[in-house]
Amino acid sequence: MSDAPADPALRAAYRLCRRRTKSEDPAEYALIQLVPAPLRPALHALWAAANALDDLGDDRTAPAAERAARVEAWITALHRELPTGTSPDPIRHALVDTAARWRLDLSELRDAMAQVREDTDGRSFTDWAAWRTWGRDNLLPWFGQVRAILDRAGVPVALRLDTREAYEEFLDGVRLTDILTDLSADLAQGDLLLPEEALALHPGSADDLANRRWSPAVSALVTDLTGRARRWVAQETLTRGMHPGPATVLQTMAALLHAQLDAVEAAGPALLRARPRPALRTRVRILAPARTRAALAWSLTPLTLPPHHRSPDAPRQPAAPARPATARAFRRPPPHPSGERPPVIPPALLPAHVAVIMDGNGRWAQQRGLPRHAGHRAGAHAVREVVHGALEIGLAHLTLYTFSTENWHRDTEEVDAILGLLRDEVAEDPFRDLDVRMRWHGRAGRLPPDLADLLQLRERTTRGRTGLTLTMCIDYGGRDEITRTAAALARRVRAGHLDPDRITDEDFARHLPHPDMPDVDLLWRTGNEQRTSNFLPWHAAYAELHFTPGLWPDTDRHHLWEAVTAYTHRQRRHGTTNPDPLPR
Ligand code: FPP
Repeated sequence: MSDAPADPALRAAYRLCRRRTKSEDPAEYALIQLVPAPLRPALHALWAAANALDDLGDDRTAPAAERAARVEAWITALHRELPTGTSPDPIRHALVDTAARWRLDLSELRDAMAQVREDTDGRSFTDWAAWRTWGRDNLLPWFGQVRAILDRAGVPVALRLDTREAYEEFLDGVRLTDILTDLSADLAQGDLLLPEEALALHPGSADDLANRRWSPAVSALVTDLTGRARRWVAQETLTRGMHPGPATVLQTMAALLHAQLDAVEAAGPALLRARPRPALRTRVRILAPARTRAALAWSLTPLTLPPHHRSPDAPRQPAAPARPATARAFRRPPPHPSGERPPVIPPALLPAHVAVIMDGNGRWAQQRGLPRHAGHRAGAHAVREVVHGALEIGLAHLTLYTFSTENWHRDTEEVDAILGLLRDEVAEDPFRDLDVRMRWHGRAGRLPPDLADLLQLRERTTRGRTGLTLTMCIDYGGRDEITRTAAALARRVRAGHLDPDRITDEDFARHLPHPDMPDVDLLWRTGNEQRTSNFLPWHAAYAELHFTPGLWPDTDRHHLWEAVTAYTHRQRRHGTTNPDPLPR
């Protein structure tokens, strides 16, 4: 069955993107060949667009200001063309069609594209941290689009929370391998895209490179950098639990990167004169079995292909404008069944973050002679109520203790019931029309993979929303969170990015699994118990505590409003003698 668009100009545009990817990045082209044919045009369009933009920024026949203006003009034209679904420029034509067909939010590429414009002024990095931020800001959003396409095709690339860091480090390895490969071309243009920190370890290497001198310092630097890139690229955990299709692509990509690094090391002085390339037989040795594995892997899942947007005869339908998810019109939450209206709380007094220990489901069921899972089901109804109440008062963050690392010790039947209930709730997606950004906080790897996939899907599809951030803590434990954060810091120290004697609170907070989660202002527990039970120990260090006697399934939104109103009367001192020394 042909999946080609009917419009000949569009077909030609996609062909151009394919040719461009093949000639400019044969390794990337070979990787795209490992995904099913109907997905390839979209991936060629993304790669060709990224390359075209980079080339505009890099074209040294023009002065920097002019290159910046060309990049800006390209980006502006893209934004103008997105709502029309077409463009006179063939690469943008393929890109806007891809965006419309696969419902991509290209606003997520805004910063990466702006970075290309800023890079026209030249780049330098004092340390690996700055280098990494630059590389990630540029690469991650493009890879994010590829993941969105796989999502829409029905093959979500489940990136478990504990593999996110591995994923980002893998992309650092991709970037460093690229820089080593392109060293001769970059030096010819006077660019050296390496951090000063790395060069300083090999005194004289910066000068030698600038003069294209293959010295012992340069040789040692290259050995050092290839070793680092190899470590970053070797991420065994990355593809664990992933669909075998994308997993095969990533594993093949890692093998090609290793071969590329071998070629970099083998090149010696030639590295400063030409781009090294692995031998044909090496590429064939990696790619031939990968093709067989990929064909088998993808055959396991039927793909969902969105229709093409128009036929040549049909009147031109403007594609949905690509706008940030925030511009979407969300529904208001349904009112409280009694008609009760929310209290008016001045925004300055509102807690930024309310965290809830939803206790009492079991007792609620017991009191009615029902099985415990009936209590959890009633608890899920209370969750909806409280989320509606949170939206009504304009709360920014609501975090729910849904399943703790200790809850695994309950009867298998109860554990299965809670996880099954969660699966049903997340699949039903009761907040889909509301401005709710959903997140999952907790250990990855122990939840049923389909539940983990669903949670990650919701997280990805709602991440542009700006109303309420609803974080569900599932397989969450505070000590586990602290331990994993300590492990992340230890890895940074081992890699030489952090000095253990200078680790600050802020460093620790940056390595938490959700570094952007604000401190908890109000920690509320229902069920007549007065404990915090291993819930958010880092974030709740200064939280106001609120304990209520009612059982969670009996809770509704006015209990949240009461809790928040009580909070507005508290005086917070954060260890000082002044009330409210910190801005709310
Ligand atoms: C504690 O009550 C509650 C739980 C361990 C489960 C919480 C789960 C839900 C409220 C259901 C779904 C949630 C969402 C976000 C859809 P308990 O069982 O310890 O009660 P007990 O102390 O009375 O035994």
